[in-house]
Amino acid sequence: MGIIYDEKERLFTLHTGNSTYQMKVDPYGFLLHLYYGRRTEGCMDYLLHYADRGFSGNPYEAGSDRTYSLDVLPQELPSNGTGDYRSPAVVVKNGDGSYGGVFRYQGYRILDGKYSIPGLPAVYASSGEAQTLEIDLEDPVTGVGITIMYGVLPAIDIITRSLVVFNGGKSRICLEKLQTACLDWVGGEYDFVSFYGRHVMERNLQRMPVGHGSQVIGSRRGTSSHQYNPMMILAEHSATEDFGSCYAMSFVYSGGFKGEVEKDQFNQTRALLGLSDEQFSYPLEPGERFYAPEVVMTYSQEGMARLSQNLHICFRTHLCRGKYRDIRRPVLLNSWEASYLDFDGEAIYQLARQAVELGVEMLVLDDGWFGKRDSDNSGLGDWYANEEKLGEPLEHLARRITELGLKFGIWFEPEAINEDSDLFRKHPEWALTIPGRKPVRARDQLVLDFSNPQVVDHIFGQMCKILDSGYIEYVKWDMNRSLSDCFSRHTQDQGRVLHDYVLGLYDILERLVQRYPDILFEGCSGGGGRFDAGMLYYTPQIWCSDNSDAIDRVWIQYGTSFGYPVSAVGAHVSAVPNHQNGRFTPFDTRGVVAMAGAFGYELDPMKLSSEEKEKIKDQIQRYKQHAGLIQQGIYYRLTDPFEEPVGAWEYLAKDASELLVNAVMLELHGNGPVSYLKLKGLPAGCMYQDMESGKAYPSDALMESGIPLPMAMGEYRAYQMHFVRMKK
Ligand code: GLA
Repeated sequence: MGIIYDEKERLFTLHTGNSTYQMKVDPYGFLLHLYYGRRTEGCMDYLLHYADRGFSGNPYEAGSDRTYSLDVLPQELPSNGTGDYRSPAVVVKNGDGSYGGVFRYQGYRILDGKYSIPGLPAVYASSGEAQTLEIDLEDPVTGVGITIMYGVLPAIDIITRSLVVFNGGKSRICLEKLQTACLDWVGGEYDFVSFYGRHVMERNLQRMPVGHGSQVIGSRRGTSSHQYNPMMILAEHSATEDFGSCYAMSFVYSGGFKGEVEKDQFNQTRALLGLSDEQFSYPLEPGERFYAPEVVMTYSQEGMARLSQNLHICFRTHLCRGKYRDIRRPVLLNSWEASYLDFDGEAIYQLARQAVELGVEMLVLDDGWFGKRDSDNSGLGDWYANEEKLGEPLEHLARRITELGLKFGIWFEPEAINEDSDLFRKHPEWALTIPGRKPVRARDQLVLDFSNPQVVDHIFGQMCKILDSGYIEYVKWDMNRSLSDCFSRHTQDQGRVLHDYVLGLYDILERLVQRYPDILFEGCSGGGGRFDAGMLYYTPQIWCSDNSDAIDRVWIQYGTSFGYPVSAVGAHVSAVPNHQNGRFTPFDTRGVVAMAGAFGYELDPMKLSSEEKEKIKDQIQRYKQHAGLIQQGIYYRLTDPFEEPVGAWEYLAKDASELLVNAVMLELHGNGPVSYLKLKGLPAGCMYQDMESGKAYPSDALMESGIPLPMAMGEYRAYQMHFVRMKK
């Protein structure tokens, strides 16, 4: 299998199908990182270099050997206090007030299957699919132990990593920094690829050469954020979509994070990813444990396409769970852009009637159905139906809608509270606020203290009362602001609140998915403000962005595709002019772009022409026809829409028997050049038939010279081409 221990060399080797990861316990008990890259045999300790380096300290035990310094050596778990002055993965404040820890090797275990983490999301696999390596390190002076857990999934080229800190000492300690994963290269001419953005324009790609100093991404917002996604890529300068070495690190966590890349004095590169260390000071009493959220890593020697595909398959089949993991998601119509907060029960019922005529399968009642929610500055926290507004009990409306033959779904924002709500009037202390200070408001709302189990229990109870009706088959879990005023009345230790908040979130989500296995949960945070691997463990799809404009979505979904599978991307056809940017795009284009995800609509069909309504029927048919290919096919980016005039992508069946090619024209010029789209991943020497024209094309030419896109008049045209491999 994938994990080998060489006792004589004290060498650990993790093999996946196409990669090897290696580390070694050195004579002083430090766990040194030797290698991560293309699969190889052998021992790579020849890469280590020992020299007397000025101002790089030596551990006491090294005696007069000045060539041994942790300031220079690549490590699996660098901590402060060892003479390594680069950024550490671990900072412990000990019981005596001192900082630092020197963690030395104690032992290891190789286990069948993939470890799980109590209270936290994690990649899962059966015993035949994965192995776990646990390496115990300990600081003998303080008794603090850290176990590094590695999960190895050879078939999909994935290595995961998590940490367990155990306070085996006699006094209370505080974790001041704990970054789950560290990749320490002895060299490293890399580019750092990260995904930055903002509300309504998430996950733009930035690629920068790693220079001296540190480049840091992260979130101090309590959520993973629109501003930086908790995933990063290190790629050789020459790596492209299809060639070259690259590494991905993705944080399976939905709160604040820090991703850091540092090039040191000897041009060595260190990449760290894990919890944010701001407002983080997590106490551990003697005997207590702390689990660090997981990081998923993958390596590709065939460029970024392969890197993304590895993550796609891992998240789609080893992280997402539940009934909807593999089946086609229902085509839904969401009420938000159709009527915002301005509706009554009858209007929603009429929306549902229209929807069912068009072939839509589920009606989602978005924000506005509960409490005193007539505007967006009241009602959050009061999760009972506003019958006055609806004109009927929610259950009654839900039953009427399901009787039309539709599924029914509903929106919640469970972590939020308005000051103008019954809940706030009763429990103002349940909101995160600092005593004596006026809190920061955002969208006129505050955040509930989910680090307090009593608050979580209350919201869970309220939600169950609604969901127990049995009519609800989908829940959109929204979160519409960043955290601030992170003070909990529930604890003396404010340095634990941000992480405990996320544990509270995961606790309620876990209870919900267990109690309602038939409900499809969709994540959301003002669109893609919490689009992370942690959420995918509970919600197999996430509303990708509040920006539903098809053209902006080409960019947003392009960036998203680097780290996340199509099946995770909530994408809807909305009205024009688009509500976020006023752009007009053809109806067909909106369909093609929304089909790059869990497909649906977000508009009022009553405002559409009969021609547009016919198009909806066709689109739904088409989506249903190709849903398997879209959801489970191998995803290829065919262009870079930031650089090229066309945005294009392809879904290829695993056995290459068919593919769906999608292209959106982003630029328009008179008498312009023809765009040839080069397809990817096809086996050599076969013929593919375009199912619309019937024309046959050689696979090699499709990949070498491409397929010409039509030069139709009009802005933002889109094309979808279905090719099927012909029998020889
Ligand atoms: C957020 C979501 C939207 C919608 C609104 C409702 O912005 O991303 O899709 O649900 O909240 O208030």
